[in-house]
Amino acid sequence: MLGWLRTSPAAKDAKIPPRILHAPSPQPDRIILTWSGAPDTTQAVTWRTDTSVRQAVSEIAAAGDGPLFRKRAKQVRARTETYVSDLGEALYHSVEFTGLAPASRYVYRVGDGENWSEWAHFNTASARPEPFSFAYVGDAQNEIFSMWSRVIRSAYSDAPKLKFIIHAGDLITTPDRDEQWGEWHRAAGWINQSVPSVPVPGNHEYGQQSTGQRALNRNWRPQFTLPGNGVAGLEETNYWFDYQGVRVVALNSNLRQQEQAEWLDRLLADNPNQWTVVTQHHPIFSTARGRDNKDLRELWKPVFDKYRVDLVLTGHDHSYGRSNVLAGEKRHEGGTVYVVSVSGPKMYNITPAPWMKRAAEDTQLYQIIRVEGGRLYYEARTAKGTLYDAFELRKRRKGANVLINRIPNVPENRRPPGEDQAKQG
Ligand SMILES: [Fe+2]
Ligand SMILES: [Fe+2]
Repeated sequence: MLGWLRTSPAAKDAKIPPRILHAPSPQPDRIILTWSGAPDTTQAVTWRTDTSVRQAVSEIAAAGDGPLFRKRAKQVRARTETYVSDLGEALYHSVEFTGLAPASRYVYRVGDGENWSEWAHFNTASARPEPFSFAYVGDAQNEIFSMWSRVIRSAYSDAPKLKFIIHAGDLITTPDRDEQWGEWHRAAGWINQSVPSVPVPGNHEYGQQSTGQRALNRNWRPQFTLPGNGVAGLEETNYWFDYQGVRVVALNSNLRQQEQAEWLDRLLADNPNQWTVVTQHHPIFSTARGRDNKDLRELWKPVFDKYRVDLVLTGHDHSYGRSNVLAGEKRHEGGTVYVVSVSGPKMYNITPAPWMKRAAEDTQLYQIIRVEGGRLYYEARTAKGTLYDAFELRKRRKGANVLINRIPNVPENRRPPGEDQAKQG
C-alpha cells in the first residue's frame, strides 16, 4: 500500500495521488498577497509554477472601470527560487510592487508571458489612520481543504472589505508535506489573491523535517514574501508593519523568546500608532487541559503590559478562550485582551479558568476585528457564521482600555461529558 494512502488526511477525500492532485503546471497557482514592506506603498505577491517557466513576471496597473487599464500595465520581473518538496520540484516566484500610491486600488496578474493568472485587485493602505477591518484565525491544520474551506470563505463573505487575514500558526500539521500546503492554498483560493495574508509559524511549522532536523517548514519562506524586520535569523517569522493606525506585530513563539522580548520592548518604545495588535502561536493564557506556557508568559506579558498592547491573538490550544479587561484587576494591569481560537476541525477540551470571559469547545471560529478611531470592535463567529463572542474596546487617554462585552445570549459550546478529545499535538 502506498504511504500516502495510510497517512494523508486528504486521502479519504481524493483518490488521485497527491503528486498528481497538487502538481504544479506552467499556469500560476498558490498565488498569495503578503507584505514585505509598508502596506501603504508596497505589495508583495508570490506564486508557484512548474520548472518549465523560464522568466516569471507580474503586470500591474491602476485599477480601471473597464478593460483599458491593460494598456497602462507595467511589467515587473519576478525573483524565482526552486523548491523541491516531497511531491517533486517546483518554482516559487515573487514580486514586490513598490512606489505605489496610498489608499489606491490596483489590478495585477502573474505569469510568464504566455500563461497568466486572471487579473485581480488589491488595495494599498491609507498613509493615515482610517477605519478598517481585518480577520484573524487560529489553527487550520487538519483536513484543511475538506473542513477549513468553509470557515475561511465565511470570514471573507462576512467582511469582504477586510484588509488582511492573520493566521496564528499551525496552518498545516505535517512539516514538509507539500500536499497540506496545496490544500491550504486551495481552501482560500482567490481570496488570497486580493486579501493579504499575515501568517506566523506554530509548532507544526517547526516539526521534524525529512532531513531529521527540527526547523522551519521548508515551504514557508519560498511561498510567503514577508518582512525581515524582526530579530536577525527570524526573518519572515518575526516581523511588524503598521496599518492605518494599528501596529501589527508577529512573534515567533517557537524559539528565541528572550531576544524577541527585548526586540519587542525596543519596537514598542517608538510606536506612533493608537493601537497595537500582537499575533503569536502559543497562548499567554492557555485554554486546553494541562497546558500552560508559563515561561513565555513571564517573558512576554510584562512587555505587553508595559506598552498596553491591545490584543494578543493566538492559537495552539484547539479551543476558544477570550479574556476580559478589568481595570485594577492584577492580572490585566496592561489592559490587554488575550484570545485563543481555532479555525480547523481538530478540537481539545478546555479547562475553565477565571480569565476566560467566553470559551468554546468543538467550535470552528473566525474573528473579524474593526478599528475605528478610538474604538475597536471584535466579533468571533462560528463556521456557519453565527455570532459567538463580541466586545468593544474604547481607548482612554491614560490607563487601560475600557472593554464593553457584547456576548450574544447563547450558551457556551461545551463538549458533552464522556466524549474524547483529539490527541494533543
Ligand atoms: Fe500548536
Ligand atoms: Fe495546533
